[in-house]
Amino acid sequence: MPVTAVSGSASGIGAAVCQALRAAGHRVIGIDRAEAQVVADLSTAQGRQAAITAVLEQSGGVLDGLVCCAGVGSSALSNTIIAVNYFGVSELLDGLADALAKGQAPAAVVIGSIAATHANPEQQPMIAAMLAGNEALALEQANALELSHVAYACSKYAVTANARSKAVQWAKQGIRLNVVAPGAVETPLHQASLNDPRFAKAVREFVAPMGRSGHPEEIAQVVAFLQSAQASFVHGTVVFVDGGMDAMVRPARF
Ligand code: NAI
Repeated sequence: MPVTAVSGSASGIGAAVCQALRAAGHRVIGIDRAEAQVVADLSTAQGRQAAITAVLEQSGGVLDGLVCCAGVGSSALSNTIIAVNYFGVSELLDGLADALAKGQAPAAVVIGSIAATHANPEQQPMIAAMLAGNEALALEQANALELSHVAYACSKYAVTANARSKAVQWAKQGIRLNVVAPGAVETPLHQASLNDPRFAKAVREFVAPMGRSGHPEEIAQVVAFLQSAQASFVHGTVVFVDGGMDAMVRPARF
């Protein structure tokens, strides 16, 4: 039975991923702030280390899968967004890589976002700070931002670039690693943006060509596919699951 750790397992997309993976025969080790096999706060270095230690304990040091889903939306504080969405992912990937390398056909998925396509690495030095692993500098730069949705887009750009840059090294260790970039999906995170007067109008008006938001299960099915043997040659890629949003915004870029 494959053993897969899933962060953000208590809600939304993460909860749906746990369900889909269990249905596919995985033993799931959920990581979240509450209601999970591993209760940890991924916004701090200490919490991330505690999560890694607990996952290694519960898996016996061997993992077949990892799905990094935990995240906060634009309505959170900018520094929390950077801490959870970037460092809460990159440190789990680094801390669990050796356990994955010992697994059976191991694979990992990072949940990015269509928002990553809105970030400009040339204008946002925070992205370089994240990719360099300099959390103190990235948090300082995030604190200086006027609007937290910039931090959100930058965190998702950086987490995507980080995953893609690992692809060559991880392939040598036999671990596949992909990014799933959802569009708008009906979860508490999305609802919080709709409830936030700073972002409500923009979020309401940014509708996918398919004319609706996604459901968590529609993201989870793609994650389950990427974690399966059917995706054995899919590696280092970004899969948009967005009802056509990316094609609408950037038809000539792919
Ligand atoms: P959600 O709010 O339903 O679930 C997020 C989960 O992450 C929660 O269970 C929460 O407790 C956990 N989490 C947050 N901070 C944490 C921390 N410090 N330590 C441990 N766990 C923490 O949100 P949703 O929508 O399911 O989000 C999942 C991922 O999907 C996130 O990375 C989000 O950025 C991404 N995403 C969501 C979209 C949407 O429209 N819902 C669109 C694009 C990406």
